[in-house]
Amino acid sequence: MSDPVEITVASYASAREAFRQKELRQALYDEGDVVMADVLVNLHGADHRARRRLENRLFRKDTHRRYERELFPPIVAATLAPHVAEGRAELVGLSHELMMNLAASTAGVDRPLGTRHETMRLYAYLMVFIQGATLAHHTGDHDAKRAEVRAALEAWDHEFLAPSIARRRALIDQVEAGTLDEAELPRDVLTTLLLHDGELHLPPEVVRREIAFFLLAGAHTSATAFVRTLHHVFAMADHRPEDLERARTDLTFLQRCVHETVRLQPSSPVAMRWALADVELPDGTTIPEGARLTIDLMAANRDPAAFGPDADAFDPHRVLPGGVAPWGLSFGLGMHACIGQDLAAGVDPLGHEVDEDHLFGLVPVAVRAVLDAGGRPDPAEPPALDPESSRGYWGRYPVVFPP
Ligand code: HEM
Repeated sequence: MSDPVEITVASYASAREAFRQKELRQALYDEGDVVMADVLVNLHGADHRARRRLENRLFRKDTHRRYERELFPPIVAATLAPHVAEGRAELVGLSHELMMNLAASTAGVDRPLGTRHETMRLYAYLMVFIQGATLAHHTGDHDAKRAEVRAALEAWDHEFLAPSIARRRALIDQVEAGTLDEAELPRDVLTTLLLHDGELHLPPEVVRREIAFFLLAGAHTSATAFVRTLHHVFAMADHRPEDLERARTDLTFLQRCVHETVRLQPSSPVAMRWALADVELPDGTTIPEGARLTIDLMAANRDPAAFGPDADAFDPHRVLPGGVAPWGLSFGLGMHACIGQDLAAGVDPLGHEVDEDHLFGLVPVAVRAVLDAGGRPDPAEPPALDPESSRGYWGRYPVVFPP
């Protein structure tokens, strides 16, 4: 088979149009099938629409509000408390632990024992799933890694997923018997799928991968955004101390700091699509059938035509032209637009009054918790980038908390 024609779009306007094309099918996770086969972000056309419509029922404003106001704050407080008590934390590890706790509650993965050991076991599975989803970047033997991920999925199912399904089925039985109000059911993806399993008829292994995918889609992206935002906020101490103070006290401003961080450092630097037919973008770019398109998010999000001449700079005061999102294209757009966007980053505060109903998002709420606890970089141990990653991930980020 000859290599496909490769095309890249890098301007904001063209990337936005590319995301909207219905004849472009997901291509980013082809190698990651072991976790990603048949999960939402990999479906196309009618299959995607049916699953998305069902899962959208969970990701509504009332659920987001409940998560942000009721369910997440105690999880954030409980995850942070032992570190604050110790007077120090390592933000990279903390971020994964924290965001996995939040993602587990959204996905619907129970931890009945509630012990740290149990959380660390789930965390270990999550790390293997991430390797499975990003198999294309794996430098070792792909088949061996695939087998390892498949075995981890089965073990995780036995240990965590099957009991989570059994508990939810029992609750759904009670609702059907009229002994439990439907509003008392957990609000998570797994419950949503089980409640409507007569509509989609998903085989058990697809449910398994879908929940594993939600766990990693929610945890990894939010964790990196959390650490990177704190880095930008801490850096304000040197040249904009008044902004640092504002980030500590004004959650709307902190939300803008998160959006600006996510714009400059999208969790995936590119999106990819296969052309199912010849596609022509309004700028004249032609993508022939069978070609693979790379949407360069890193470049599009720094396009001066959309974000101004200082597009490369971190500026939470940035004024944007109409139709340009403050996070750029970091949450995608079109059919695969991130389902967790409002949950993670809230609703754009620009251009409307921020009232008591406003959603700030769990990343700003979690960043604020670290600032409220007085967290600041450990002067004795500067942060270090992960030498094994070309994506600019932090490897270690030690912080200290005052007594
Ligand atoms: C800062 C945090 C996040 C970022 C930057 C992010 C980014 C993205 C991007 C770029 C896409 C589109 C992929 C594509 O078009 O190929 C996407 C899709 C998706 N995201 Fe997120 N995400 C974040 C948080 C979350 C959270 C918290 C959840 C779950 C609760 C989530 C669940 C999903 C799902 C299920 C999809 C697939 C949607 C579909 O195909 O219809 N994400 N995300």
